[in-house]
Amino acid sequence: VQGRRFLQIAIDGPVGAGKSTVARLVAERLGILYVDTGAMYRALALAAKRRGVDWLDEKGVVEVLHKIEIKLESPLRGKGDGRNVTVLLTGEDVSWEIRGSDLGEGASVVSQYPEVRKTMVAMQKAIAANSAVIMEGRDIGTRVLPGAQIKIYMDADLEERVKRKAVQIRKLGQSSKISEIKKDVTTRDKREMTRKIDPLRPAKDAWILDTTGLSIEMVVDRIVGRVKELELGSFFREI
Ligand code: DC
Repeated sequence: VQGRRFLQIAIDGPVGAGKSTVARLVAERLGILYVDTGAMYRALALAAKRRGVDWLDEKGVVEVLHKIEIKLESPLRGKGDGRNVTVLLTGEDVSWEIRGSDLGEGASVVSQYPEVRKTMVAMQKAIAANSAVIMEGRDIGTRVLPGAQIKIYMDADLEERVKRKAVQIRKLGQSSKISEIKKDVTTRDKREMTRKIDPLRPAKDAWILDTTGLSIEMVVDRIVGRVKELELGSFFREI
């Protein structure tokens, strides 16, 4: 049916800005689909690693991309292991395995390749064509969902983003020095902000949301508040 329009909330921002946790909670509050696009790039980085393909080998990574299937699912209610999303790599649940900081780095590298971005963006657009979504990543407001009713560029001070990453890494049972995390975060930020294709930047009409010093609940409340303010309720379902 032509003219179908679903609610779309786009969230972009650098590493550790709080996008994933906030987006999942907003999705829960509004009853819409949460889409973690970073998880898709991470799954590709994992698939390449397992096949012994170097992340810097563009041709090899693209070959891997066309051999695998990546699927995102809502975590089953009551699963309760703290995951934000279930990620299936050709049917295998890799939701936790992709969270390590090495795969964050791998995802940051493989996401620079044109063929990789083209394929991922097409998958992401297809997801949003069929349901109301809150989607987070680096190029959602600028490339994937340029028509989103709400576009947010979420940011926070570097020190705070590094601290949040450290907490996440500790939760995974891994240890890492703050100085190392800081280096990792700044390297990824720089790569993503300066890459040729779809660099990370706020969309022209983005709402710049600085989450420094704000709790997760406060950020969630602000976004849900904005949806209500804009009276986007009618977009919750197909219209
Ligand atoms: O959000 P994240 O850390 O899980 O994302 C992992 C990497 O994937 C990120 O460092 C850059 C890349 N990415 C991207 O290029 N475009 C997106 N829409 C999402 C992630």
